[in-house]
Amino acid sequence: MKHALTLEMVRVTELAAVNSAQWMGRGNKREADAAATSTMRKLLDAIPIEGTVVIGEGEMDDAPMLHIGERLGLGPAPAVDIAADPLEGTNLLARGSANALCVIALGPAGTLLHAPDMYMQKIAVGPSCRGRIDIRQPVTENLHAVARATSKDPSEIVVAILDRPRHEEMISQIRQTGARIKLISDGDIVAALSTAFEQFGVDILLGTGGSPEGVLAAAALKCLGGELQGRLLPSSEEQRQRCYRMGLDPGQVLSMEDLVVGDDVIFAATGVTDGELLRGVRSTANRGVRTHSLVMEAKTGTVRFIETLHDTSRPSA
Ligand code: FBP
Repeated sequence: MKHALTLEMVRVTELAAVNSAQWMGRGNKREADAAATSTMRKLLDAIPIEGTVVIGEGEMDDAPMLHIGERLGLGPAPAVDIAADPLEGTNLLARGSANALCVIALGPAGTLLHAPDMYMQKIAVGPSCRGRIDIRQPVTENLHAVARATSKDPSEIVVAILDRPRHEEMISQIRQTGARIKLISDGDIVAALSTAFEQFGVDILLGTGGSPEGVLAAAALKCLGGELQGRLLPSSEEQRQRCYRMGLDPGQVLSMEDLVVGDDVIFAATGVTDGELLRGVRSTANRGVRTHSLVMEAKTGTVRFIETLHDTSRPSA
C-alpha cells in the first residue's frame, strides 16, 4: 500500500470526526452516526482506490453504515478492502462521554476479514503478551498467562470488559483470579488498543462486542505488535447461514492472520470526544477546528499521533 494512502485515511477520519462532533451531547446518536458515515462515504469515493467494504458496523442496530460489499473509490486501482466504523461509541457521543472515535482500516483486496456485523467473542493483548493467549482456554488460564508474560502478580492484572449482563459470569471468573477490572460502558476498540500502551494500565480485553470492532482492533494491534483472537457468535440460524455463505465457520477461532492477512494494513482513528488515547474535536478561535488522530502502518510499524488544525472557512484539505 502506498504511504500516500495513510494520509488519505487520516483525512477521512478527521473530517468524519469534525462533522459528527457537532452532535456531541445532543442525545441523537443516529444523526451523529449519519454525519460520520456520509462524510466517510463521500471522501472515500474521491480517493484513487478500488475499495470494497468487507465489514461494516450498523447492521445489528439498523444504524447508518457503509454497507458490506459497497464499492467506494475513484479507481481504477489499487483494489483494497475497507473495514470501517464511522462512529465508534454512538452512545458515548450522544451523551458527550469520553472515547467516541471515527475509525477505518485499509488493506489490499482479500486481506481484511469479510464477515457479517454480529457479536464476536474477543481476547486482546499488547506486544508483551503476544503469543501467550488462547481464546479456547478458560479465563483463569489466560489471566495467569498474562501475569507470567508481564511478570506481574495476578492481582495486578487489569482486565477491560464491557459492562453488560452477558458478561456477569466472566466478570465473576475474573474476580476469582484476583485480577482487577475496568468496566467500560462502550467502546471496545479503544479498550483493545489500550492494552498496547503501557500508560493506560490495561493488560487484556475480554468479552463480547461487535465483529467490525474486532477486525478494526485486530488491524490496530497488528500495527502495534499486539494480538487479538476472536470467535463469531451468531445469534440466529439466519446469522449462522450468513457466516457459511461468507465462507466462515461460525465456531472457528479467528487468529490475527484470519482477521488481517499479512502486514500491509493501515489503521486510522480520530477522537470525537476527549478520551484516554485521543483528544476530541475542539473548536478554536476564528472558525478553526483542531483534531487529534492516531494513524499507523503495520508494515513499517510507524505509529503517528497527528494534531491537525482545520480552517473551516476554506475548502477542506
Ligand atoms: P456503537 O458505535 O455502535 O455504539 O458501538 C459501541 C460498542 O460499545 C462497541 O465498542 C462494542 O463492540 C459494541 O458496542 C457492543 O455492543 P452492545 O452495545 O450491543 O453490547
